[in-house]
Amino acid sequence: MKCWAVAPTFVGMLTTPKKSGPAATLYVCTNFRSGVHSSCAARGSKSLLAELKAEALTRDLDVIIDTVVCLGHCEIGPNVRIAGGEILHGVTSKDIGAIIDRLHSVNAQ
Ligand code: FES
Repeated sequence: MKCWAVAPTFVGMLTTPKKSGPAATLYVCTNFRSGVHSSCAARGSKSLLAELKAEALTRDLDVIIDTVVCLGHCEIGPNVRIAGGEILHGVTSKDIGAIIDRLHSVNAQ
């Protein structure tokens, strides 16, 4: 049996905000690893993060877009997670509109 310790800050990033919280939250993995292993940053997640923030700002949405160290699907990134929802894999610039729409719908609930 294998057991991995999970840093408290990582767990804290994956928790769902309380309903009384400010807004829907999106976590973008910006982890970078050099060498043969793939990572979200190596696949462009940092520019994706900037594009997501710009789109949310353009739409004037009350959302939180933050980074996370790793979502555990490094080979199929860039990966993002809407707090309380599933992880989206292989996210590209083409997906930004749909993701921001989903954040907006989470806020409306
Ligand atoms: S590097 Fe992004 S999920 Fe691991």
